[in-house]
Amino acid sequence: MCGIVAAAAQRDVAPLLIAGLKALEYRGYDSAGLAVLEGGQVHRVRAKGKVREMEALYLAEPFPGGTGIAHTRWATHGVPSEVNAHPHMVGRVTLVHNGIIENYASLRVELQSKGYVFASETDTEVMAALVDVNLDKGMSLREAVLATVRELDGAYAIAVISRDEPGRVVGARRGAPLLIGVGIGEHFLGSDAQALVQVTNKIIYLDEGDVAEITRESAHIYTLDGKPAERAMHESELSADAVERGEYRHYMQKEIFEQPRAVADTLEARIHANGVLPNIFGVGGDELLTKVKGLHIIACGTSYHAGMVAKYWIEEHARLPVNVEVASEYRYREAVVPEGTLFIAISQSGETADTLAAMRESRRRGYLGTLAICNVPESSVVREADLKLMTRAGPEIGVASTKAFTTQLSALALLTLHLAKQRGMDDARYQDLCAQLLHLPRSIDDALKLEPQIIELAERFVHRNHALFLGRGAHHPVALEGSLKLKEISYIHAEAYPAGELKHGPLALVDEDMPVIAVAPNGPLLDKLKSNLQEVRARGGELIVFADTAAHIDGNATRGAILRIDGGGEFIAPAVFTVPLQLLAYHVAVLRGTDVDQPRNLAKSVTVE
Ligand code: G6P
Repeated sequence: MCGIVAAAAQRDVAPLLIAGLKALEYRGYDSAGLAVLEGGQVHRVRAKGKVREMEALYLAEPFPGGTGIAHTRWATHGVPSEVNAHPHMVGRVTLVHNGIIENYASLRVELQSKGYVFASETDTEVMAALVDVNLDKGMSLREAVLATVRELDGAYAIAVISRDEPGRVVGARRGAPLLIGVGIGEHFLGSDAQALVQVTNKIIYLDEGDVAEITRESAHIYTLDGKPAERAMHESELSADAVERGEYRHYMQKEIFEQPRAVADTLEARIHANGVLPNIFGVGGDELLTKVKGLHIIACGTSYHAGMVAKYWIEEHARLPVNVEVASEYRYREAVVPEGTLFIAISQSGETADTLAAMRESRRRGYLGTLAICNVPESSVVREADLKLMTRAGPEIGVASTKAFTTQLSALALLTLHLAKQRGMDDARYQDLCAQLLHLPRSIDDALKLEPQIIELAERFVHRNHALFLGRGAHHPVALEGSLKLKEISYIHAEAYPAGELKHGPLALVDEDMPVIAVAPNGPLLDKLKSNLQEVRARGGELIVFADTAAHIDGNATRGAILRIDGGGEFIAPAVFTVPLQLLAYHVAVLRGTDVDQPRNLAKSVTVE
């Protein structure tokens, strides 16, 4: 999704802004641009496509200047094009924007009646014009931005410069993240700490509604009503190294292979052989959890699939009712909230607009409390939750989420065990499940060793247009996640069904051109699944079965391929079986030559509705 970098420094900032945009490339975008203010003039360069295409234009005719703003755009209003790319310039104002302004159409008509002519189709250009109108009234840039944002409905993070105020950048946020980077004799704005990692690790996160004014020497923050405000400074732990690709061909592959480490980090100091440790959910967490009578889990995309697995786990082991819903539906629905219900938001980024809005909406609906399961400690979701459990996956750069998912499952497994123990699970069972979870990093490590076999298997998919994934119980969400990975990065149409539903519709699709991928862990549903596989085989379908080493599945019965995996026990098997499906999607995408880390049309962190 869109990214912002801005700087006020003594040195020339264009190269810093370009480096910052490159660090944000992982978020997904379709055009890029930057503008630098120097001697009362603004130099601007914009291009459709990658940052390096915009950079080439800049390098062909570089310009100096210590004040600048830059942007990667993910199209919402208007197609990806140079004209729609940010920064937008109106009068003396140049502006970049993340988010969506909902009342832009009426504002645009009003401005047109005042004589403004718009070059682009974007909502952003309207904001630039509004700031210009306010400057005409004699306001300073900061006052003009404050007056402008008060007129806006919707979400924004912006960075603005004015030809008349050299050395100054004004930023503002509501509903989309923005932070200040504090350097030595220089200040920055960024939509994400990752954008600034090469220039500073001193970060000030802005609050909702804040307006910030940065110059080389100073950074001032104001609330929406114009009052000065103080916000704490944090030392970011991100390092430029953490986002190096190293020996791997893509970030996604690196992140798949980081899973044993990431899961071990998520479990560290939270569980040991005797069980889950106290107070892992933050202050008052253990006490609040004793009062829980049910749970509502809200998330999007891959995080939603993690929530679906947790429903099976928590209902089986803690005997508490769990509802799981995608955030974009939940927020607009009058959900019934029984007394004693805990609201759980799962989000890798902690900035997904729908998840954040659902969490804010939940405040009105009378929950017992909120718990965030998230990978970014300073994110909005974490800051607004009562309780939190961080996933410690480290930065995830590939748009297709991998280590975020397995670390979310690890965190949810901890929650399951904690709730189960509080509700009287018998000791032997509890010890067994804890041992399985403690072994998860090694089980994932073993699953990764299947990569050579999966590379061979991937060949079968290169020329396919469709694929069907099947799983039962907690492995239905695993099948959904496998199909999501495949469609996201290889652009093969894929669907996932609970295997028992096959005969109620999707069986009609099965023929020799439709590969059917089945997840077959060991467990009570294995025999049922075997019958479903026979239904596929009888229709000539090609079956690819990921089977537990402990499951008795006859390799000859598949008319396709069978890969054997040690699932590490029934409890943690969903996390283990996810790994070969990630590898399969990855290698199919590599063979098809797609842009694996930045698949078309998708964004890493969807900060618009
Ligand atoms: C986007 C990403 C997905 C991710 C989803 C939710 O759609 O492309 O990979 O699962 O957002 O993101 P979150 O950061 O809230 O987990």
